[in-house]
Amino acid sequence: MRILVTGSTQGIGKAIAAAFVKGGHEVIVHCSKDIEKVEKIKKELGAFAAVTADLSDMTQTRGLYNKTGPVDCLILNASVQVKQSWQEITEEALDNQINVNIKSTLVLMQAYYPAMKEKGFGRIVTIGSVNQHRCHPMLSIYSATKCAVMRLVKNIAEEAAPYGVTVNNVSPGAIATPRNADVFNDVKLRAAVEATIPMGRFGTPEECAGIVEFLCGPSGGYITGADICVDGGLGL
Ligand SMILES: NC(=O)c1ccc[n+]([C@@H]2O[C@H](COP(=O)([O-])OP(=O)(O)OC[C@H]3O[C@@H](n4cnc5c(N)ncnc54)[C@H](OP(=O)(O)O)[C@@H]3O)[C@@H](O)[C@H]2O)c1
Repeated sequence: MRILVTGSTQGIGKAIAAAFVKGGHEVIVHCSKDIEKVEKIKKELGAFAAVTADLSDMTQTRGLYNKTGPVDCLILNASVQVKQSWQEITEEALDNQINVNIKSTLVLMQAYYPAMKEKGFGRIVTIGSVNQHRCHPMLSIYSATKCAVMRLVKNIAEEAAPYGVTVNNVSPGAIATPRNADVFNDVKLRAAVEATIPMGRFGTPEECAGIVEFLCGPSGGYITGADICVDGGLGL
């Protein structure tokens, strides 16, 4: 299968891309701007192609389909997260999170879905967050964007189901990625976060990749419109 994983230069996206390459698939890796960085990841993983598109810019987002052509699986992993209390949220941070997390998700699904429908096969997986299910005082807008994507997933999943296209969301908990490096590498902060997780530890990017592979593979073919938490129980 040909698979596009957005935001695959590091963290969860990179682990998803690596798992699909290992499974023998043609993987297109992606990041926002730095073509050298994404080419390096392509080489490291043995991926099929490397592309850039800044998903905060809808012209570039629309242009991504022209760079990749149709894919069998669209993994919408890239996001931005700005930590601000709701009284301090700036318009810039609001727009950036809405653009990258919600708008680009819709625009990319609009661009890639018609060919999947025509082919009678497609897999779309969005990467959500445990924050869809719990409160975090610094992540109101980030959480709202992830909830909005989940509603998009459910609505589109129903319409796409008769055409062999499944649409699902995977919601990670606290995962050890560069995004969380400051917390993960600080012994006290890390212990404080781990104390809130029923399993008592951060998850790994690889533990998120497995369910994405499953949803795109034959065993996941009858699952659509689902929201699957990979969070060590954090959202309970
Ligand atoms: N890590 C966690 O604990 C956790 C928890 C819950 C949910 N998640 C979700 O899981 C997904 C991956 O998280 P992560 O921690 O692995 O992320 P990460 O380490 O911050 O990596 C983000 C990736 O997205 C790309 N990206 C960011 N802004 C972009 C833009 N404007 N246009 C295009 N690409 C952009 C980055 O590429 P550039 O280098 O070009 O910026 C990078 O490849 C996200 O959707 C996140 O919300 C993560």
